[in-house]
Amino acid sequence: MVKINRFYDLLPETYLFQEVNRRVKTFKAANPDVEIFRLGVGNTTEPLKPITADGLARGVQKLRDVKTYSGYGDEQGNEALRKAIAQYYNERQVTIDPLEVFVSDGAKCDTANLSSIFDIGSIVAVQDPVYPVYVDTNVIAGRGGRNIHGRHMGILYMPCTPENNFAPSLPGLHADLIYLCSPNNPTGTALNKEQLKVFVDYARAQKSVIIFDAAYEAFIRTPGIPHTIYEVEGSEECTIEVNSFSKSAGFTGVRLGWSVVPKKLVVEDGGPGKINALWNRRQTTFFNGASNVAQEGGLAVLTEEGQREVKELVDFYMGNANIIRRGLVRTGFEVYGGVDAPYLWMKTPQEMKSWDFFDKLLQETHVVGTPGVGFGSEGEGYFRFSGFQHRDIVERAVESIQNKLRL
Ligand code: MLT
Repeated sequence: MVKINRFYDLLPETYLFQEVNRRVKTFKAANPDVEIFRLGVGNTTEPLKPITADGLARGVQKLRDVKTYSGYGDEQGNEALRKAIAQYYNERQVTIDPLEVFVSDGAKCDTANLSSIFDIGSIVAVQDPVYPVYVDTNVIAGRGGRNIHGRHMGILYMPCTPENNFAPSLPGLHADLIYLCSPNNPTGTALNKEQLKVFVDYARAQKSVIIFDAAYEAFIRTPGIPHTIYEVEGSEECTIEVNSFSKSAGFTGVRLGWSVVPKKLVVEDGGPGKINALWNRRQTTFFNGASNVAQEGGLAVLTEEGQREVKELVDFYMGNANIIRRGLVRTGFEVYGGVDAPYLWMKTPQEMKSWDFFDKLLQETHVVGTPGVGFGSEGEGYFRFSGFQHRDIVERAVESIQNKLRL
């Protein structure tokens, strides 16, 4: 008789944003006339910009014509797009070979799947709070162990708190796979070169691998903050970087991202090229390549005009983050992030638990955010707001918090 993968039983029953949606639905059912202001999930709201949209339309157009029609493409992505992504790095003075670029349907899937090419006994380290995907996928793979008070016993947690300015310290014990996200979801912190170098030096010395999630790099505003970990010398020997078109170009629904798996990356039992070859093996087995329409759109995004459009979109969302930030500070909250990332991380008032504050905020102001504890035990007592929303909703949400929240 077939049995289920018991490791699923070690996960929270629902994924964080499903629980958020469930509570909002329940509230809406009881209060059908109320307008809800959603600043919860980081989901883009603004329409595609013209050059980007034309790129996607070109992809569709090609499919209409027998001379340009294409079916399956290369699982690793179109050659032209891989080259354009490599060029994107070259503009940051980082040399990447297009053969090191693997185009995908988004950063979430890549960060979820990458650990499958490493030994099942690998010790995983994550920031706490953390994007839940890194933890949950490793728990499903059998690396997590039991969850006690919000922490899996098999995972090493690197606390990110106001005391360390949300910059993690190295794990106390040896870690094989280290997940870093900068600019960070959820805290909005961006790590500087020195902070990244500490991890790169550690990974090289320990023969560990860093999985670096750079999905929010386009939101960096502070000069000098690395847009890619490959700006740190030696990182190509120990780091896989993941990035995405979702948040920067509005592709959350279009789906397109990439991973860079450097040929120089080495592990204990795999010399240069081995990990790149393994990821290629994994992708060619599990994945038939990103949509050819999406890839045509991605090519347009990476042109000079496309990058101008990205800047406009990013500026818009960062404008939202700034409005939320100022509103929360005016209300008297302790607020972090929102400077190099579209997320604001806030201490809940009067030591309230994250979910209690979620319910209070929803009931009194009709604003939806994300409870910090959903990102890990260090997130308890914190709350996240997302800058991905229409401007008028952001403004009315902030007004509602200022006027209606009973403190
Ligand atoms: C979030 O709100 O944390 C994001 O939507 C996560 C994601 O991109 O999957």
